[in-house]
Amino acid sequence: MTTDILVHAEGAVTTLTFNRLERKNSITAAMYGVLADALATAAEDAAARVVLLQGHETIFSAGNDIGDFLHKPPAGEGSPVSRFLRGIATFPKPLLAAVCGPAVGVGTTMLLHCDLVYAGDNAAFSLPFVNLGLVPEAASSLLLPRMFGYHRAAEALMLGEPFMAEAALEVGLVNRVLPPTEVNAYAQAQARKLAAKPLASLVETKRLMKQGREAAVLKQMDEEGRTFARMLREPAAREAFSAFMEKRKPDFSKV
Ligand code: COA
Repeated sequence: MTTDILVHAEGAVTTLTFNRLERKNSITAAMYGVLADALATAAEDAAARVVLLQGHETIFSAGNDIGDFLHKPPAGEGSPVSRFLRGIATFPKPLLAAVCGPAVGVGTTMLLHCDLVYAGDNAAFSLPFVNLGLVPEAASSLLLPRMFGYHRAAEALMLGEPFMAEAALEVGLVNRVLPPTEVNAYAQAQARKLAAKPLASLVETKRLMKQGREAAVLKQMDEEGRTFARMLREPAAREAFSAFMEKRKPDFSKV
């Protein structure tokens, strides 16, 4: 069992912590598996009322592990990443995130499925899918234009440049910006507040707010997933991953 994700239940709050600092909390297949299982358990367990995702005050997550992309690409619908993405998209209870430092790729797109997001003023969100020869995932190609407006979503997804916490607050991706040292504790306090409320009301409120959207989100995820899997094997992505591993700039002039 990996310790790269810490699963900690205290009272009715389950906290899932990215704990792979030496690799900037990048997420391996094993980590997606632990996250997916923890979400499934929390969804079923009557004692679990709220889930909080958090990283370290210097880094939330560098996104998918690039070595995995290169050597162990995710294989289809039952893959751990796919189980995790479907798990956050359909999680019925309140889901919170506390984000400090870089939140790259899935580190940002997973936030689109959280109910409340608190960010450190050092948070830097980025969606470098195109720069890696890939396409967006986690239904972000559907949800981001709706949240940001088309042009700001196109800027974030096509240029892939980081945007900071204040910009994320402005577009509605985060609820509140705080000093990094306070974010995890603040999010934990908000999670405890929610855990003290009637669970059925929270679950029904979330269901009503998201009603009519879930099928479209899952359909978009499937289509993104198929495109992503195809593009992972193509020359642009291979060049981008090799360049990252070799610590050089990618050369897309021939792809
Ligand atoms: N997958 C695998 N390893 C990763 C990683 C990832 N996504 N992100 C970082 N690492 C590794 C680095 O290779 C480095 O390894 P090394 O110590 O063996 O050299 C180590 O983690 C530290 O990363 P480094 O880049 O030196 O840290 P930084 O503080 O300068 O930058 C980031 C942090 C997150 C901005 C930067 O690491 C980054 O951009 N990572 C890639 C993000 C990415 O493209 N993810 C895929 C999204 S789809």
